[in-house]
Amino acid sequence: MHLTREEERILAGELGWAKARALEVIVKVGEAVGAEKLVKISHAHVSGASYMTIGEAGRRFLEELAKAGARVEVPTTVNPVSYDIEDPESIPYTRIDSKVLKGQQAIMKALESMGVKLTLTCTPYYLDELKRVVKQGEHVAWGESNAVAYANSVLGVWTNREGGPLALLAAIAGRTYYYGPHVPEWRRPVAAFRLSRYKPLDSAEAGVLGYIVAREHKSERPPLVDAWFGGEGPLKEFLAAIGTASNLAMAYIPGITPLEPGNEFEEVIDLSEEDLKREMERLAPPGKPEIIYIGCPHSSTHELRELLLALKSRGKPKVEIVVSISRGLFTKALKEGLVDALRSYRVRFIKDTCLIVSPFSKYGKDVVIATNSYKAYHYLSRKGVKVGIASIKDMVAMAL
Ligand code: F3S
Repeated sequence: MHLTREEERILAGELGWAKARALEVIVKVGEAVGAEKLVKISHAHVSGASYMTIGEAGRRFLEELAKAGARVEVPTTVNPVSYDIEDPESIPYTRIDSKVLKGQQAIMKALESMGVKLTLTCTPYYLDELKRVVKQGEHVAWGESNAVAYANSVLGVWTNREGGPLALLAAIAGRTYYYGPHVPEWRRPVAAFRLSRYKPLDSAEAGVLGYIVAREHKSERPPLVDAWFGGEGPLKEFLAAIGTASNLAMAYIPGITPLEPGNEFEEVIDLSEEDLKREMERLAPPGKPEIIYIGCPHSSTHELRELLLALKSRGKPKVEIVVSISRGLFTKALKEGLVDALRSYRVRFIKDTCLIVSPFSKYGKDVVIATNSYKAYHYLSRKGVKVGIASIKDMVAMAL
């Protein structure tokens, strides 16, 4: 791999032991995949911050890194943790025991001491501050699959699908390996999927479409997906689904992705309304839901408004509606009056966390859940929770 003079000095330890070790790992991974050089990054987003996901081993790794004096060189945000840090008891059916509490606190302390901003959200792209620090065309190192897909496909920000620790090491080194989505030729779509339909996709349908595309697409290079997304929520759910059901780091979406796609495809696949309907029926909730779950990835204000509209037209539900959201957007929605309006319809907000990275699945196995998120469906069903997919409108109707 070609290294600059500055990178050689970092590796030699002239800028500190921790930075040298971080860069060493980045170089090794880059060499393993055949990257010819490194690229400077302007931002990093670290995943794998929940104690439920990384456990004691992850906690020790982060504490040792922090103790060795590691500091991030670029603005760095981080994914959700295992509970709402201001209200640990807010997750339904769930107890946060002292081991989780202490382990999580230690993880957050270590990350903060390295300079990581504790945003605790998997939708960093909704943060106002991100728009100030990251510009289109810049290289970043993000480690949350939905955020990676959103960065590459919507923001036009270039990132690999970094593993959680790798995004942190890239933040410390200020660089990542020049590979995959960082390379312009790699980003050109190789196959095209076309969904002919006369109405826009809602968030549940968009997620299921993402799953179908991920299942049918046979390359790690991006597909072009020509479909009509009914706003921000559906776009987010579609990208989260392709990131969940495959190793894809992006999809080219005409009118959204800020790049020229070219017009040479190895194959063109036409999808029909019937294909979508069949999968929606197969993945429907297995019985009357006891929880309606929205906000995987963390909710946008678009979804909150859509939910409020559906509730206003149908009335107060009999079951609880749980929304996971970033603390940043929650505060904004609170000021707008959206939070109080939704709470009057039995909506419960959980911040900094979600039903998947919290211990919820340990306690909620007997609860039937309906969600508009393919990603939530995918992970909750693998953890043994009874879950199915439906649109926000249909879920509200089921909750009456
Ligand atoms: Fe985010 Fe949790 Fe879903 S971290 S993407 S809400 S699994």
